[in-house]
Amino acid sequence: MAFLELQGVEKHFGSLRAIKGVDLKIEKGEFIVFVGPSGCGKSTLLRMIAGLTEIDGGSLTLDGRDITKLASSKRDLAMVFQSYALYPHMSVFDNMSFALRLANVDKAVIQQKVQRAAEILNLVPYLQRTPKELSGGQRQRVAIGRAIVRAPKVFLFDEPLSNLDAALRGQTRVEIAKLHRDLGATTIYVTHDQVEAMTLADRVVVLRDGQIEQVGTPLALYDRPANQFVAQFIGTPQMNVLPAAKLPQLAEVGGMAVPAGGFVGLRPEDIRVQLAGQGQLQGTVELVEALGAETLIHVATSTGAIVISRQNSRTTLHAGNPVGLSIDATAAHLFDDQGRLARPASGGASQASA
Ligand SMILES: Nc1ncnc2c1ncn2[C@@H]1O[C@H](COP(=O)(O)OP(=O)(O)OP(=O)(O)O)[C@@H](O)[C@H]1O
Ligand SMILES: [Mg+2]
Repeated sequence: MAFLELQGVEKHFGSLRAIKGVDLKIEKGEFIVFVGPSGCGKSTLLRMIAGLTEIDGGSLTLDGRDITKLASSKRDLAMVFQSYALYPHMSVFDNMSFALRLANVDKAVIQQKVQRAAEILNLVPYLQRTPKELSGGQRQRVAIGRAIVRAPKVFLFDEPLSNLDAALRGQTRVEIAKLHRDLGATTIYVTHDQVEAMTLADRVVVLRDGQIEQVGTPLALYDRPANQFVAQFIGTPQMNVLPAAKLPQLAEVGGMAVPAGGFVGLRPEDIRVQLAGQGQLQGTVELVEALGAETLIHVATSTGAIVISRQNSRTTLHAGNPVGLSIDATAAHLFDDQGRLARPASGGASQASA
């Protein structure tokens, strides 16, 4: 049996079926990331696991025990929110030790556990300060520290870094990755951030409208999305998806079978910008985004659709320039008219090995 297991889990808010029979098995020590559009049910699902929102159907087991109806305080889970929810009048030490003090843990043990968490999180110099005397990143680390000292069976994070600026987010992300490596604690982490999902997760769970669309390792989802939704949700810029009927040129290449009414999906790195007249598609540059290490070239194609090409080199192209696009047919993901995968990509730059 899996360490944490959800079976047919349901949540109803009045007439809204917010979570629709979710099945998920999580192994001990895994780092699981929930992603999906706003309102798809990520926080609801996490809160149901935490015991903060009641489960209306199905079951939840942790470490061999049915905890579906168990009170949150008895579940042995710790949750870290986007809003740090620290006690403003308490010192960092008191915030971090609060749960242990409530549980009447021995003073010396508390001291040792808080010290250890503070060392891991670089909070030792701040233990006597109150939260308002800390930066946002430090406050977030206190919230994480408060979870660590409890040594829970599972850590639950709901967008813990979304209040931080980009640099601090990056640093704290690396800290969370190290923390997971050091503690090996089972973790479920909700995020909107693609980089967090791709870098932190052992497996990513893509949710949509209260249901799981696909579960897999970050690269499995990137390389072998099960449907058009996952294909376009994972990856920035998102996968280009064009009606197959608009790409008769591509259908001739490599003898690929584009399903009637279907779609062709191409990662930006699998479309190469060439001189006008070359390649399978012709178009005009709409926009060039020079990001330094990479360049994104938006091209209005003769099919009427705009596609984005990603290259690692700089370009002298600018809006209005005519260009050709060459596409490696083996890199194309084919979807049927319902957006289901009809044929996975088998090659292309996005899947090339080092
Ligand atoms: N307490 C509640 N009462 C009624 N509806 C709710 C409640 N909590 C959530 N919902 C609804 O359930 C659905 C899922 O909400 P949830 O907060 O889980 O989404 P989310 O995926 O976390 O979104 P976001 O990315 O915006 O945080 C939404 O349609 C939301 O409006
Ligand atoms: Mg949410």
